[in-house]
Amino acid sequence: MNNPTKILLSTESNIAKCAGLLRNGRLVAFPTETVYALGAVATNEKAVRKVFAVKKRPLDRPLIVAVARKEDIASVVKTIPPKAQKLIDTFMPGALTVVLERADSIPDVVTAGTDSVAVRIPDNEIAQSLIDLVRKPVVVPSANTSEKPSPTTAKHVKDDLDGKIEFILDGGESDIGIESTIVDVRTDPPTVLREGGVSKAEIEEVIGAVATRTDRAKQGAFKPNAEVLFSAYYEGMADNIIARYDALAARGERVVILALESNRARYGERNVYSVGKNYTAYAHNLFALLRCADDQNFGVVIAEGVPPEGIGTALISRLIKLSNGWII
Ligand code: TXA
Ligand code: MG
Repeated sequence: MNNPTKILLSTESNIAKCAGLLRNGRLVAFPTETVYALGAVATNEKAVRKVFAVKKRPLDRPLIVAVARKEDIASVVKTIPPKAQKLIDTFMPGALTVVLERADSIPDVVTAGTDSVAVRIPDNEIAQSLIDLVRKPVVVPSANTSEKPSPTTAKHVKDDLDGKIEFILDGGESDIGIESTIVDVRTDPPTVLREGGVSKAEIEEVIGAVATRTDRAKQGAFKPNAEVLFSAYYEGMADNIIARYDALAARGERVVILALESNRARYGERNVYSVGKNYTAYAHNLFALLRCADDQNFGVVIAEGVPPEGIGTALISRLIKLSNGWII
């Protein structure tokens, strides 16, 4: 049996210790503003292979590479076209990942053999000082095993990876709670491969029209044990959710509704998890609440619909996937 994974306070000395471990080819999990990352030095092929093994991730799914500063992006890519530079200047550090031509310094295993590399700069002090101390690019996949949702607390990471890595730096709850937006800037127009913390509209304000293609970067294979039903967003949404809930409950299903705090009262005595006050909170809490639904043995989760704007589009793309496109 491996030693249990330790959760470390993110003190200066613990961050320095973890940076040393990373430099020596070890793996460390740490917070970012989107979700927790499982880090390894990107130029260390052996360490990167361990990341795939620990996450039980297929080798054909490339990893995102993080650097600490904008100047460091040049070390992992061949060229930075003008639109990419604009995105970097506007959104980095932050929840945006750009896909560019890969520099020779990045090994094949990181990019699944493709000639592109996905790069981001986490907007999180702990992540930044850690990567800064490592002084090398670090791979930053979400710190979950492939069948679990992205972790938004150190405890989620421990639940998934206990005994498989030595340390997790604790940075509290992830600010955003869903992953970064990924834009391939090599195409014209650029292509959004995954919706996330930065909205498509925000990106289009900076570089003009972009295409959307969500099949290229698969949004993870996570499925909770509970079946997820996703409501369309409209006036009578609550009545429709209630009808569905009651029909399922009458069949003996254990059902829980994910609802905005302000809508909670509409569902009366039924089981409700509040997702918070607004859609930003919904995104922040979604993965944690799905873990909770599984822990509490709910068979069905009915998620309230959200308007397709701002963070809403990223939420919708995840909820459609979680529900296998089953919209009620
Ligand atoms: O917010 C995030 O991006 C988090 C934090 C921890 O950094 N990381 C994350 O990594 O979500 P991961 O491995 O769970 O998801 C990375 C996604 C995958 O869908 C992968 O296919 C895509 O990024 N990806 C990575 N490199 C790529 C590339 N060169 N071209 C296209 N897609 C790429
Ligand atoms: Mg992931």
